[in-house]
Amino acid sequence: MAVLEREIIESIPGTYNLENYDALRHTFSWDDAAKELSFAKTGKLNAAYETIDRHVDEGNGEKVALHYINGDERRSLTFKEVKEKTDHYARVLKSHGVKKGDRVFVFLPKTPECYISILAIIKIGAIAGPLFEAFMEEAVKDRINDCKGTVLITDNEMVKRVPQKEISSLQTILDVEDIENTIIDGKNDCDLVEWVDPEDGMLIHYTSGSTGKPKGVLHAHRVVSHHYVSGKWVLDVKDDDVYWCTSHPGWVTGSVYGLFAPWLNRATIVIQGGRFKAENWYQLIHEFKVTIWYSAPTAFRMLLSQGDVIKNYDLSSLRHVLSVGEPLNPEVIYWAWEQLGVRIHDTWWMTETGGHLIVNLPAETIKPGSMGRPFPGITVGILDEDGQELPRGSVGQLAIRTPWPGLMKEIWGNKDRFDAYFRYEGWYVSGDLAYQDEDGYVFFQSRDDDMINSAGERIGPFEVESKLIEHPAVAEAGVIGKPDPIRGELVKAFITLRPGFSESKELLEEIRVFVRNNLAAHAAPREIEVLKELPKTVISGKILRRQLKEWEIQRAESDRFMRNGGN
Ligand code: WTA
Repeated sequence: MAVLEREIIESIPGTYNLENYDALRHTFSWDDAAKELSFAKTGKLNAAYETIDRHVDEGNGEKVALHYINGDERRSLTFKEVKEKTDHYARVLKSHGVKKGDRVFVFLPKTPECYISILAIIKIGAIAGPLFEAFMEEAVKDRINDCKGTVLITDNEMVKRVPQKEISSLQTILDVEDIENTIIDGKNDCDLVEWVDPEDGMLIHYTSGSTGKPKGVLHAHRVVSHHYVSGKWVLDVKDDDVYWCTSHPGWVTGSVYGLFAPWLNRATIVIQGGRFKAENWYQLIHEFKVTIWYSAPTAFRMLLSQGDVIKNYDLSSLRHVLSVGEPLNPEVIYWAWEQLGVRIHDTWWMTETGGHLIVNLPAETIKPGSMGRPFPGITVGILDEDGQELPRGSVGQLAIRTPWPGLMKEIWGNKDRFDAYFRYEGWYVSGDLAYQDEDGYVFFQSRDDDMINSAGERIGPFEVESKLIEHPAVAEAGVIGKPDPIRGELVKAFITLRPGFSESKELLEEIRVFVRNNLAAHAAPREIEVLKELPKTVISGKILRRQLKEWEIQRAESDRFMRNGGN
């Protein structure tokens, strides 16, 4: 397999307009780029208007905005239809007293209504808080309570996972079907749109850190210029593209690159309900002739492990494939190159950064194993412990020069946690460790903290540990990410038991289910190991997750050594 031996896959001539990308590298400025959005002309801004209504006003209302697929169900909506539905939802929200700045949560499966709810909230100036559909009671409660959400849009199934009594700020729960059926006379309010200041809040995504509860990352309306620009240049969305992002809008990739960036660029998107199944995924690409596909390494590895299934589908429509969220193994890039004839373009960013920062632009050389190069207008620094820049090739803290348009506005109600990102003057510190080579390519090494990345999802060990010790049998818990060939890492818990409990398979399963049912399936430990005691720091008695992780890695290495016959 010749391609496996190649260190570099050169860009495929003819697919992209190379001159444009050269110009982008040399002349780009954020200000110029954002001028294409209407607020540059009118001084007025509303992210939902820019995303949908603008296309209707510009005469593109009849273009298909979305195809929805779930099992045998198929639906399509034009931009005009999405606008009208969004307006209807917005009116219903207004009739329930929702005002500018209110936090309104959306807890729905991946349906058009989930996307439309998010837009409706933003259109009337409120702040949208999309929740991942698999969250359980505790996760839902913590998030809505943290920023005092007043309204929740959900459905009659998922509402069962909303512990209403424990969320005192919540005044109204709206069933999405009731919204659909509400009759409202909207003839008189010809302009629903709440025009806001670019610094006004628009979107809040909760994300994990290594300590404490999840943090509410608040983005302001200005973030859409970052979405627009990266949608244009990194996603490479053109008018005849069919675009599919596999992430749910409850995660930042699912909202920014599942909803805003493609629609700001007037793409037709595909929304798929249901769980991962290789056949369904390939079928979707085949049936809708998807041209641009954005997914994550775990998904690609799962597809790769299914082998020949891929041969039953025509995937030749794909022209541009992207990946995000976790390290992308070179093997996966070679697999796609062989099986699909396209390269996978890795991208790096975070919930806090609002949009792409390090990317492989469509027309540029890819170095497998690297996340790519800084987007034009973005400056990367690799810093030492004192915040000094290290020379090329040295591993250090991955930092970005501030500011840029997508950078978060605040961590809801927690200035200290916000300030921690900016502890070195002029830099945003990501918490990742990386190095940058002579050509500017950035190579991810690891996290600088205990955050776990399982299947591209950020999991805070503290949240899982807190849940574990609520179980009557668990005395103490230390949670780490254990290296895993498919998921990158899997959640592993080390626990000590309370007196009177003894280890059994049933007990460990009960503990696992306890976390899964209260928090979320993706956060439940896949492995639980009972220890007599947990390693701790001498002075403060804090559990040493790093030590646990080191043990786990050493054990895996020695297992591998034994398996390979000890040589
Ligand atoms: C990790 C997801 C390696 C990283 C958009 C970062 C990556 C965290 C990559 C943010 C990548 C993201 N290669 N690691 N291409 N992209 N990460 O907030 O550790 O859910 O800090 O945002 O994911 O996760 P978040």
